[in-house]
Amino acid sequence: MRAPVVPLRREGPGLEPAQLTHRLLRRIIGQEEAIRTIVPYVELYEAGLAPAGRPVGVFLLLGPTGTGKTRTVEALAEALHGSDRHVLRIDCGEFQLEHETARLIGAPPGYIGHRETQPMLTQAKLNAAASERSSLSIVLFDEIEKAAASLGRLLLGVLDKATLKLGDNTTVNFERSLIFLTSNLGAREMARRTRQRFGLAAAAPAPEAGRTLERVALGAVKKRFSPEFVNRIDQILTYRPLDREAFERILDLQLEELHQHLAGRLGEAAFRVMLTEEARRFLLEQGTSAEYGARELKRTLHRHLIQPLARVVLERLARPGEVVRVEPAGGGGRLCFRAGAGSYTAA
Ligand SMILES: Nc1ncnc2c1ncn2[C@@H]1O[C@H](COP(=O)(O)OP(=O)(O)O)[C@@H](O)[C@H]1O
Ligand SMILES: [Mg+2]
Repeated sequence: MRAPVVPLRREGPGLEPAQLTHRLLRRIIGQEEAIRTIVPYVELYEAGLAPAGRPVGVFLLLGPTGTGKTRTVEALAEALHGSDRHVLRIDCGEFQLEHETARLIGAPPGYIGHRETQPMLTQAKLNAAASERSSLSIVLFDEIEKAAASLGRLLLGVLDKATLKLGDNTTVNFERSLIFLTSNLGAREMARRTRQRFGLAAAAPAPEAGRTLERVALGAVKKRFSPEFVNRIDQILTYRPLDREAFERILDLQLEELHQHLAGRLGEAAFRVMLTEEARRFLLEQGTSAEYGARELKRTLHRHLIQPLARVVLERLARPGEVVRVEPAGGGGRLCFRAGAGSYTAA
């Protein structure tokens, strides 16, 4: 006779794993391998099968600037908890000096500043990063290469035993946490290799090129961090440089976000924006950067599209529900916005 099936613990409504993968793939372009590696750790946790005594998962996200490392963590928080603010985020750039690490754990009682220092990594803050939907907290140590060595030492215990001792001798438990470390270590060398082998405007690097990038990245990590530290990382994920198609899809995503933003902010008065093919091409040309990835695209959109749209709103050029047509103007260095009540050409 077969034993009755014991249902696994599930917390709250949760997200179906397939749905989670799907959502992340829609938001993060061109980094499928990373997403398909991360999601099973969430599943393990939601199924109640994550091992005790350590974090649910520890990931090191490597790769060039503006390829979606930080965005992946935000998108995961959005999918799991309903908001990308559900992340306990430590910007390691703020902890470049040895003594600054004390702000993370607070000073011991009796020390100067003990009362004023509210540590950044408390159990309450960790718990606040979870939500009714899921009790899994997402922790992000962003741009870890900038951190002082003392932060690395402090992290060892967190990564290994899921505990952190604070200045006041209490401990924080990270067993219900996914920990992400991001870094662009090795990115410059990776970029050099990509250019050498594929030319600047390369198509998607072939899988074996991906392996080369991984080796370069891992080499840089091993130079910077101790073997104990590297050993405690579950997965090292190398983000790929974005190709032309990825930039196009990211542009579409950002235009979609712009429409949501307009609808959210302007309510009934919201209008839509329609870019001609030439306008799209202009934004892509201005916003494609081997050095800054999609960050440059974001900046370009802000400067050439979003800022001029403020004038369209202030001058009441567009009626509610109207479609504003956007096309290149003059010599092609800027965009023109045409609506029923008139047009505006950006400076
Ligand atoms: N792969 C990607 N898919 C979708 N958007 C991306 C991707 N890479 C970058 N972006 C966009 O560019 C911005 C900067 O990317 P980010 O994830 O912060 O870069 P980094 O890899 O340096 O952490 C994001 O907020 C997002 O809008
Ligand atoms: Mg980042």
